[in-house]
Amino acid sequence: MTDLDWAAMADVLELEGEAYQPYVQLALAELAQLEPQRITDVGSGPGVAACQLAAAFPKAEVTAADGTPELLARAEQRAKRLGVELRTRVAEFPAGLDDLGTADLIWTAQTVHHVGDQQDALNRLARLLTPGGVLAVVEGGLPTRWLPHDLGFGRPGLQSRIDAAMSERFNQMRAELPGSVATVETWADMLRTAGLEGTWSKTFLVDRPAPLDDGTRRWLRGTVERYRHGLQDHLDAEDLATLDRLLDPAEPMGLDQRPDLFLLTAKTVHFGHNPA
Ligand SMILES: C[S@@+](CC[C@H](N)C(=O)[O-])C[C@H]1O[C@@H](n2cnc3c(N)ncnc32)[C@H](O)[C@@H]1O
Repeated sequence: MTDLDWAAMADVLELEGEAYQPYVQLALAELAQLEPQRITDVGSGPGVAACQLAAAFPKAEVTAADGTPELLARAEQRAKRLGVELRTRVAEFPAGLDDLGTADLIWTAQTVHHVGDQQDALNRLARLLTPGGVLAVVEGGLPTRWLPHDLGFGRPGLQSRIDAAMSERFNQMRAELPGSVATVETWADMLRTAGLEGTWSKTFLVDRPAPLDDGTRRWLRGTVERYRHGLQDHLDAEDLATLDRLLDPAEPMGLDQRPDLFLLTAKTVHFGHNPA
């Protein structure tokens, strides 16, 4: 596991999962012809997508696997609340992947990039697929936008500078992972290298125009609080002051009050079949 405190991120991860649900729903429509008996969500976090999988494939046995027991407890509560069947399994990646058992559909979103050797992780996941089974890997897509370029104060273009800083943090995170291997991240090629065929990649939009619902607004506040804390040494004083003003609950142009916040992003899902 990396030094990220995943359990502490439970609220933000669950709110993000909920805000991003539209892309998962669109991706699952790609798989509508499948009749999987066993499904595993690898790196499920608090189980938002796992519950969507359970609802979309009610006859399947769905397992949420993750290295953070606190997040799996969330997933169990969520499944109970939504009235769907969900199993959970604590597993540390990559070693624990081999023991997850076979599945007809493996979904893994924003998790493979947390494993040092991404190709090795895909190889292990591909070996878990039953003949004809499908692996769906969510990696890549586009940066998220939630404010206008000029948000009314501070230097315009804040989000581009946050993206650049986060990209540096991401590189550092990857470099520090155990067994980190640099890879050309052409995911469809990587799936083929893992032995899968008929690979395809498709990008799905998450488009929540203003005004934002309460949950998405709370996700955004949590996300910006993380930026403020984590990018302290990566953004200049003016941008940090802008983040402080955005986070001020009393500020009419802040995140809690302004009416023009939106959520626009795109997520890419890479699919591949295990040869039957
Ligand atoms: C960015 S979150 C993704 C959660 C969810 N799939 C989503 O798309 O919202 C990454 C998840 O992978 C899990 N994770 C990261 N590295 C891991 C590792 N080495 N072993 C097991 N789980 C890990 C974390 O606990 C976290 O739930």
